Amino acid sequence: MTDRAHLSLGDAQYEFPVVEGSEGERAIDIRDLRQRTGHITLDPGYANTGSCESAITFIDGERGVLHYRGIPIEQFAAEPNFVEVAWLLIFGALPTAEEYAAFAADLTRHANLDEGMKHHFEGFPRAAPPMAILSAMINALSCFHPELIELEDAERFRMAAARLISKIRTIAAYAYRHSRGQPYIYPDPRLRYVPNFLHMMFAQPYVEYDCDESIVRALNLVLILHADHEQNCSTSTVRMVGSSGANLFASCAAGVCALWGPLHGGANVEVLDMLERIHGGQLTVEEYVRLAKDKDSKVRLMGFGHRVYKNFDPRAKLLGEVAEELLAKLGVKDPLLDVARRLEEIALSDPYFVERKLYPNVDFYSGVILRAIGIPTNMFTVIFAIGRLPGWIAHWWEQRSEGSRIARPRQVYVGNTGTDYLPMERRS
Ligand code: ACO
Repeated sequence: MTDRAHLSLGDAQYEFPVVEGSEGERAIDIRDLRQRTGHITLDPGYANTGSCESAITFIDGERGVLHYRGIPIEQFAAEPNFVEVAWLLIFGALPTAEEYAAFAADLTRHANLDEGMKHHFEGFPRAAPPMAILSAMINALSCFHPELIELEDAERFRMAAARLISKIRTIAAYAYRHSRGQPYIYPDPRLRYVPNFLHMMFAQPYVEYDCDESIVRALNLVLILHADHEQNCSTSTVRMVGSSGANLFASCAAGVCALWGPLHGGANVEVLDMLERIHGGQLTVEEYVRLAKDKDSKVRLMGFGHRVYKNFDPRAKLLGEVAEELLAKLGVKDPLLDVARRLEEIALSDPYFVERKLYPNVDFYSGVILRAIGIPTNMFTVIFAIGRLPGWIAHWWEQRSEGSRIARPRQVYVGNTGTDYLPMERRS
């Protein structure tokens, strides 16, 4: 027999169905609550609110589990291939050899930006935040590809998804080159997805970028581990914007803006700043931890804590291992990794963090890896966005395919009542 949830409101009794997901998580379906009871639910921050049913990603925060389309993320670590995972997330199954070859060829074919679009970079100041450029330029893609604004069928959607996944790397690399006053490097059709990105970032005219295979492997894994995380802030933003019927480019540009915040993707920049401050001698590890526990300080241990993970973040575990491996392979000794390990050790044995179930999250070690690759700190969140894009696209399409309603939460109004308009001269 299916469970029912019972609600008493005054003298009235109501029953609501309980739905169960494929991994056993349960939810009370209240979609007709207001219609039947005249009440709404109040859940600031949505910690108890399921906004949709989704078949893309499963997280069990208590057990530190993360699956993409049913596959545990640890299984992508042996031969990390971001393009394959992007396909999996968006289209629902691992690609066949033919599907993979066709998708990879599409990514290669569409890597260039329209020359007109290239000139837009010149209008940005050198010091412009790269996340602002990324968001603006993704939105600008709808001006240069108007044929992809209306996506009537799966084939046209596939074309738009491939263009976006391909071009985001070019936009990211051009934003970086612009900030350095360096010439833009065109994509090289002989290179795979990640090496091509590194080529556009770091090659010089007539000087090839010598791409180390361990860097390619590490960056593939970083992108995979950021690729989706169900209804996080930026993905919910993409779905929210998409629910109004806004096109894929506009919706993903909004996702970039949401990701930018320091409590979300922007935390990877904050982590590096924190590690550098400690390494630079401004504070000891112990002093920083003390500040992070002091509610008056407004300081948080960046890269620690997660709304969903209350045991460990499996992405942080893998990234910690990759950071050690990569630095060893490159023969780099980064003192910031030592600071990170020390912070982790102290925090994990401190009752404040233990009681609140605060563990390292995905942003804690990713910066050390990106630094070893040569990526500057202000590009860290951009790399996160490149990784998260397939997840945003998958959610946008899932929602669109289901023909869902516009997302429109309610509120409990607590403002003035019965107030009259006063002419200016009567206001004190
Ligand atoms: N350092 C110190 N205290 C913390 C931290 C932290 N990093 N994170 C949470 N806390 C404390 C809060 O002060 C609060 O304490 P209280 O109960 O005494 O008031 C308690 O732990 C619960 O914290 P909330 O803010 O309610 O937890 P929430 O689920 O809303 O926030 C978040 C999660 C935003 C990730 C938070 O842990 C945080 O700010 N972390 C640092 C920023 C960060 O690393 N963000 C990246 C997250 S991963 C991602 O988005 C990709």
